[in-house]
Amino acid sequence: MIQKSGANSGPELLVELDRAARRPLRAQLEDALREAVRSGRLPANTRLPASRALAADLGVSRRLVVDAYAQVSAEGYLLSRRGAGTFVADAAAASNAPAAAAPRTAPRFDFFPGYPDLAGFPRRAWMRALRETLRDAPDRAFGYPDPRGATELRRALAEHLRRVRGVFADPESIVVCAGAAQGFVLLVRALRAGVRIAVEDPGLPAHRAILAAQGARLVALPVDERGARVHELAAAPGAHPPDAVLVTPAHQSPTGVALAPPRRAALLAWAAATGGVVIEDDYDAEYRYDRPPLGAMQGLAPDRVVYMGTVSKTLAPALRLGWLVLPPALIDAVVSEKTLADHGCPTIEQLALARLFESGAYDRHLRQARRRYRLRRDALVSAVGRHLPGAAVTGVAAGLHALVRLAHEVDGIELMRAAERHSVGVYPLGYGYLEVRPVHDAVVLGYANLSEPAIEEGIRRLALALAECPAPGARLRRSRSPARRASGAPAQARRRTGARSPGSDGRSTRPCRGAPDSG
Ligand SMILES: Cc1ncc(COP(=O)(O)O)c(C=O)c1O
Repeated sequence: MIQKSGANSGPELLVELDRAARRPLRAQLEDALREAVRSGRLPANTRLPASRALAADLGVSRRLVVDAYAQVSAEGYLLSRRGAGTFVADAAAASNAPAAAAPRTAPRFDFFPGYPDLAGFPRRAWMRALRETLRDAPDRAFGYPDPRGATELRRALAEHLRRVRGVFADPESIVVCAGAAQGFVLLVRALRAGVRIAVEDPGLPAHRAILAAQGARLVALPVDERGARVHELAAAPGAHPPDAVLVTPAHQSPTGVALAPPRRAALLAWAAATGGVVIEDDYDAEYRYDRPPLGAMQGLAPDRVVYMGTVSKTLAPALRLGWLVLPPALIDAVVSEKTLADHGCPTIEQLALARLFESGAYDRHLRQARRRYRLRRDALVSAVGRHLPGAAVTGVAAGLHALVRLAHEVDGIELMRAAERHSVGVYPLGYGYLEVRPVHDAVVLGYANLSEPAIEEGIRRLALALAECPAPGARLRRSRSPARRASGAPAQARRRTGARSPGSDGRSTRPCRGAPDSG
């Protein structure tokens, strides 16, 4: 019979003893300890359970455990520190353990557009909110969550979104989800597989991939300097109109333009006329520097617009918290999908977030962050002016990233490779298109997670990388095959941009210039 340990107090250790075996129990325990250290299951400096606790766990005498520890210590696997316990010895640990995966070397100057200032996370305010939540939350808060989200958070969100974004929200229309990413999953499932969604082109490949993976059929909606060309939504003769349109009206991702007021009106008119749904991804609207505020579209047509928000840009993507404000017709279906997906988001973090809103700490954090980001934005604009003559920075009146139009076209893969050699992470615009464009005349640069000196140095290095890039021509011909395009980008850049071969994120839909697909 195999006896397992692991249920007693103190550090736990899974040890199996076979009482039916002929090998004595003490020898079995010694074998198990040696094996656990050698294999790396017990890394260096791990404290072992106290001999009394392990003995009780295994149903053996304490003497047996003490002797086994002594033997294995004598062999150099363990060492005991008086008064502190028995530990895995440094030298012995993991001598046969598989090599840990090499840490991914992130570029030192990474202009990844998806990050806020990670060092600026309001740790103290968050810790205080968590501590107060743990102190005050009733016992029922530790049960299964409400799939719609904690009432306290939905109330706080409704108030915040009404006040700050002009969103027409009441707590009953809100579903808290694991970031915009899960919001997309829930929406497609609620709208049904096969739903046709027009997406801005360029847009965010990672989100298109999520939509497509849920069975949505994607249609390209081109973007120009006034935002998505919504007037092109009108169906071409014989084609199916989309059922929904995904837009980033406050700060188009990635071009940074705002959806012009007449186009906002036209999009809402389209929704009213066709019964279509507008999905408004308001991902970074909290950051606005030198342009007048633009309220959320949802406030103008709450019956037709799904409003989507997230803490990924205001606090941190690691929290995985976002929200949907839903038209009445979609609430039940989305709540049901959320229940099926995971029963609801973690309650404690939701309650802590509610406290941040209610205490004013969230607004205070945003005010500080805005000041810091404005300085970083200014640093980026002046560094580009200094180091990249002929380039133009656009899309910087709001948000946390810029679009930099280059003085000359480059092969995107060559640029990413050259930038990587200079430890710069750079994201060519061409990967944002449904049909990836290998020749790039612009790059998307997130500046929020880099200090001002780092921005200056990163742009200086980017200039060096650009100087090393061949003109698209000779090399470009090599990179034109889809297979090369998909595999040729440096791994890191591919992962970050979500770059993929054409068609892979759009199901079978072949994007066409704004007209609905005919598939
Ligand atoms: C366009 C856009 N929408 C939404 C998000 C946030 O996504 P999530 O809430 O899943 O982290 C991001 C983050 O970078 C984004 O770029």
